[in-house]
Amino acid sequence: MLTDTPSPATLVVGIVLALIVSQLIWKSFDPRSRLDAIPSVGIPHHPFGFYFGAWDYIKNGRAITEEGYRKYPGKAFKVALANRWLVIVNGRTSIEDLRNASDDYVSLAEATNSLLHLEHTIGQEQYRDPYQITVIRTPMTRNITGCFSDMRSEVVAAFEDLVPAKTDEWISLPAMELVLPVVSRVSNRVFIGLQCRDPDYIKITTQFAVEVAQDAAWFHITPTVLRPIAALLFGHLETATRRAMKVVGPMLQHRIEMDDKYGRDWPNSDRPNDLISWLLDEARGHPARRSVRTMTRTLLNVNFGAIHTTTQGFLHALYHIAANVEYVEPLRAEIESVVKSEGWTKAAMGKMVKLDSFLKESSRFAPGGAVSMLRQIVQDFTFSDGTTVPAGTLVGIPILAAHHDEANYANADSFDGFRFSRMREQVGEGIKHQMVTPSLDFLTFGLGRHACPGRFFGVNEQKLMMAHVLVTYDLKLRDGVRPEDEWIAHIGAANTTAEVMFRRRS
Ligand code: HEM
Repeated sequence: MLTDTPSPATLVVGIVLALIVSQLIWKSFDPRSRLDAIPSVGIPHHPFGFYFGAWDYIKNGRAITEEGYRKYPGKAFKVALANRWLVIVNGRTSIEDLRNASDDYVSLAEATNSLLHLEHTIGQEQYRDPYQITVIRTPMTRNITGCFSDMRSEVVAAFEDLVPAKTDEWISLPAMELVLPVVSRVSNRVFIGLQCRDPDYIKITTQFAVEVAQDAAWFHITPTVLRPIAALLFGHLETATRRAMKVVGPMLQHRIEMDDKYGRDWPNSDRPNDLISWLLDEARGHPARRSVRTMTRTLLNVNFGAIHTTTQGFLHALYHIAANVEYVEPLRAEIESVVKSEGWTKAAMGKMVKLDSFLKESSRFAPGGAVSMLRQIVQDFTFSDGTTVPAGTLVGIPILAAHHDEANYANADSFDGFRFSRMREQVGEGIKHQMVTPSLDFLTFGLGRHACPGRFFGVNEQKLMMAHVLVTYDLKLRDGVRPEDEWIAHIGAANTTAEVMFRRRS
């Protein structure tokens, strides 16, 4: 029966919808936005152009960014995200400006927070005190050599478990489903030890990043005042924390107690050399960092930064090599000769110059999207070319277009796996062209003070996995064609459903 008075439920839904719509409108017409002087790309000329442009950007973000790069060489342009502008600064001097700007003006943390609502998706403690960054940058990077044999044994065990290949027949495996758990296991072997193999833990660590992204998308359209409630009702953070604590909680409790009692000097020098120890070292004198719950959240957060990035890099490279099998023999020859003289060590990885080049070229081609180095402007900021961007604006750089610019690379649109190893053969060019060295031409890991601190770990892990795959299996694609990347807005991911074929080498 129809009544004139809306039910309480209808009223609540109506109020929430009104708040959502007003928030979207307020944001897109934000009076603080003084961006008119910056040309827009992908926006049709009519009163609702912003919204049509934003919808188009979701579907064609890569093409729109490339259009801006071509149309406004060396200048800034802007594109429409769902509820705000994104200013893309173009040209080497602007990228240098971003690299050199202090965090008081230009903030990676604020950009990440405004895109991912960190307080609700990774937790208050982590948002306010991301001390794991220091741990990743220094002790973790220094300890790669010491942890290398564990990483190697986990790579071998994980591929043995997940690739049941024989010498006399090809098997076909969904690549993403294979690589994600392998990366989780190998990374967490260094983070937490052998518990990395716990199936629940693998599920939690691999799903967490997806849950963060999903939750953030909902929080975007949830009015600010309702977000804490939405986080409690629908967010995944609490559940992920509880489930992870079930697995690692007792181990963490033991490690905290031992650390309280013995510090670094355990009896019989038995203290594990892993991320938990390095985190506890950094947490000394900070009681808030030393609870099971906070440490579990820190682990989730480190996994969030480590697993999908490394998986994506490796998957892209796996598709590149399976589609270009002529690279297999020269890479195998390099790997086998280096391992013969060095064994499976980090030093050996350093000598695999062709492998480094191949992985770097793969990530030049597919750096994870069309826009990178996202920053939020915290105080009005003027770039060297005179463009002023007001506080509150999100800015980024057109990484894919820069990686494909002939001014930066000869035959930039061709995949040339040994491009960088040839450059390294020239005198004095050895270090400059390594994969871990960011530059204005190679921005996969960002640049400057915020350049990825985990890149030494992630690159060694990718090299170790690829070297193992190449010496253990033959591989190919069923139709020989590299699977298409999957795009949403400016984010480009390796194909999630494609299969790669493996056969054990005899
Ligand atoms: C190997 C694949 C990886 C890629 C392509 C990658 C890429 C990136 C990029 C593009 C940034 C932002 C840089 C900027 O905006 O200037 C970043 C930051 C970061 N990455 Fe990675 N990353 C990878 C692996 C890892 C791993 C394995 C870890 C952890 C062990 C990690 C931890 C971090 C952290 C903590 C930050 C934030 C740094 C800061 O706020 O200063 N990453 N990464």
